[in-house]
Amino acid sequence: MEQPFGVLAELTYACPLHCGYCSNPVEMERYRNELTTEEWQRVFAEAADLGVLQLHLSGGEPMLRKDITELVGTAHDLGMYTNLITSGLGFNRRRAEALREAGLDHVQLSIQADEQTLSDKIAGTTSFERKQEVAELVQELDWPMTLNVVLHRQNIDRIGGILEMAHRMGADRVELANTQYYGWAGLNRSQLMPTREQLAEAETVVREAKERLGTSMEIIYVIPDYYSSYPKPCMDGWARRQFTIIPTGEALPCPTAHEVIRGHGLDPVTVREHSLQWIWESSPVFNLFRGTDWMPEPCSSCPRKEIDFGGCRCQAFALTGDAARTDPVCHLSPDHELVTGAVEAANDPTRPQPGELIPRPNPGRRS
Ligand code: SF4
Ligand code: FES
Repeated sequence: MEQPFGVLAELTYACPLHCGYCSNPVEMERYRNELTTEEWQRVFAEAADLGVLQLHLSGGEPMLRKDITELVGTAHDLGMYTNLITSGLGFNRRRAEALREAGLDHVQLSIQADEQTLSDKIAGTTSFERKQEVAELVQELDWPMTLNVVLHRQNIDRIGGILEMAHRMGADRVELANTQYYGWAGLNRSQLMPTREQLAEAETVVREAKERLGTSMEIIYVIPDYYSSYPKPCMDGWARRQFTIIPTGEALPCPTAHEVIRGHGLDPVTVREHSLQWIWESSPVFNLFRGTDWMPEPCSSCPRKEIDFGGCRCQAFALTGDAARTDPVCHLSPDHELVTGAVEAANDPTRPQPGELIPRPNPGRRS
């Protein structure tokens, strides 16, 4: 069994933004009893012992945790590379300088659009100007900076402007990821899914920007798997290289596996009750879809099974109600029409203009 390389620590699901593409769970009330500072510190130490080298601190909005600096300091002292994934809200000069001092290595800032009205509309709150200020602060304190942009029907036509803005903001790297339909994004799928024409245009714009900008800014563009013939190798395989710990301490092979685990009748595993070593090596949850033995046909006899690992278990569960089926994105899947039907609907010329997204609420915190 391989050792885990990275951990995503979702410190809180509380968030000042209300993005309708959020992959956080819809039933947020279940997840308000957050791990304490001491609990997270113990878990980070266990993760380091397991061989984890990279710690991604996310949420929700991780800056809502008053102990964020202390947590970064602990991870840094344990020798882990620390990456803060933030909306920028709550990231002021005083706290930024404290994070620098504590050893934070990298900042990932989310961006919704390249102009204020659309950006604030997608975020569900005033945040565009603040993000510009945060980017300046990140530059001033000399952190490497990645901008994360979740693309969907409502902002994908702005991709050229977004890339120009990212370059102006001094980003070292931009990750353009088409929306994955989990959590709140699953509820909003029909509003979020782009058309074929939008995607073709976006790919041209990205190609031209890559040529123009060369090595001055790295651009990662992830095409939406609904429009692919094969699924993504989700998480590089279930419990193979990385895992997630959510605000209440539940450990998951991926950030959205809550429903898969319940759907398969398994008890959640939590760092409050088990060591990380037992969770990684022996827990039923982490062994559920590890390797290739669990695979049904057509995956089990497919030459790509060690390349894409049968796709995404959460997507298979969301679309078919059974996480052990082949990801319906695969054109060889017996359930592939579930995906082609959604693609056809997104490209129906009578499809209404984009309307309001169901906003993700802010559940608040209890620790
Ligand atoms: Fe991947 Fe399974 Fe499709 Fe083969 S059949 S390409 S292993 S999802
Ligand atoms: Fe959970 Fe793909 S998002 S396995």
